[in-house]
Amino acid sequence: MSFRSPFAISRRVWANAATSAMRPVPRNCLAFGGNQRYGMATAVPPVTQDAAGSKGPTAMVFLNMGGPSTTAEVEDFLGRLFADADLIPLGRFQTYLGPLIARRRTPKIQKQYAEIGGGSPIRKWSEYQCEEMCKLLDKMSPETAPHKPYVAFRYAAPLTETMYNQMLADGFGNGKGGRAVAFTQYPQYSCSTTGSSLNELWKWRNRLEGKRASGEAEPAGAIEWSVIDRWPTHPGLVEAFAQNIEAQLKTYPEEKRKEVVLLFSAHSLPMSVVNRGDPYPAEVAATVHAVMQRLNFSNPYRLCWQSQVGPKAWLGAQTQDTVMEYVKRGQSDLILVPIAFTSDHIETLYELDLEVMHEANSPGVKRAESLNGNPVFIQALADIAHAHLKKGEPCSAQMTLRCQGCKSDRCLESKKFFAGKQHGSLVM
Ligand code: FES
Repeated sequence: MSFRSPFAISRRVWANAATSAMRPVPRNCLAFGGNQRYGMATAVPPVTQDAAGSKGPTAMVFLNMGGPSTTAEVEDFLGRLFADADLIPLGRFQTYLGPLIARRRTPKIQKQYAEIGGGSPIRKWSEYQCEEMCKLLDKMSPETAPHKPYVAFRYAAPLTETMYNQMLADGFGNGKGGRAVAFTQYPQYSCSTTGSSLNELWKWRNRLEGKRASGEAEPAGAIEWSVIDRWPTHPGLVEAFAQNIEAQLKTYPEEKRKEVVLLFSAHSLPMSVVNRGDPYPAEVAATVHAVMQRLNFSNPYRLCWQSQVGPKAWLGAQTQDTVMEYVKRGQSDLILVPIAFTSDHIETLYELDLEVMHEANSPGVKRAESLNGNPVFIQALADIAHAHLKKGEPCSAQMTLRCQGCKSDRCLESKKFFAGKQHGSLVM
């Protein structure tokens, strides 16, 4: 079996990387997108004093990893991805190894993006979902209207700093105050994903309007942030997943339908992150259980993990191995269900559709559609946001607890900031 996940690194590259680790890397390899253009599908109007709602306007900021919209953006995207120790811990040589691995991987990953249409659709879907959610929120929560859509990606345009500058230009913060909600688009919390995005948001907040920007005093009239940090079992999310699975089940002959195995697939994590106490595996399992409960446990199912990178131990069983093993045993009716992402991306369109399903070479191996523009899902996003705005809490209680093995001051300070005066003292 010759499975290669989109970002997998060969042992040869690792060996070369290790020997080259001490070579200095040109500065421009580490300079990420400072001049990226920010472009929402719909222009955000400036904040005005006569906003419709008594507590509005409210900025709704979708956080996600992002993906290169064109093949030309692949190298910058990979450079940021491999430089992020929250996502891919490479130890003390991260600064050298990250850009090196990114450069080596670029041609192959560019080819993969070319095969799925020339780029990732994640920006298109994120902007659409956020705009549609804001339209619903304007009706559901007129007092906090207008709700203004923003997208902040961790590794691709629009980057967090670009989004933040756009918010300041639109009239939020800079002495004028205003409310913003950071809404993670990872339903299940991991310090590698949501944690990394929040650390980045906290960093840019400090640079652009925190103590550092104003000398040393905490400035008045800065943006007031709150966070929707996880929503793994929200009924609307569960319903959207369940409907997509039911639609795919209907494509099998009725007499075979009950025997189809549902294979839930989520992005894997290094075991070092799992053993540090990361909440992600438990939260993904909670989503799977909730979806199966909604389906009345109609089919046998398993949770497996995809897209591991590098030679270290990652959480398994691997999706590819699972599919091949079941097919080998004669169970060739399988539905792959991407359970930890809210739209299509390279891990669904390339890794599952073009690698796993191609290698399985069986017409019974199929994939449930991703959530993308699903109206049930977009209503769920609006319900989650509405409940958050009504509750007035800065974040969930769960956000205040650091991983047992966390030694990061950045995590500590960023969590204290987002937990606010109300819950900051609980962070430990
Ligand atoms: Fe989990 Fe820091 S690594 S809180």
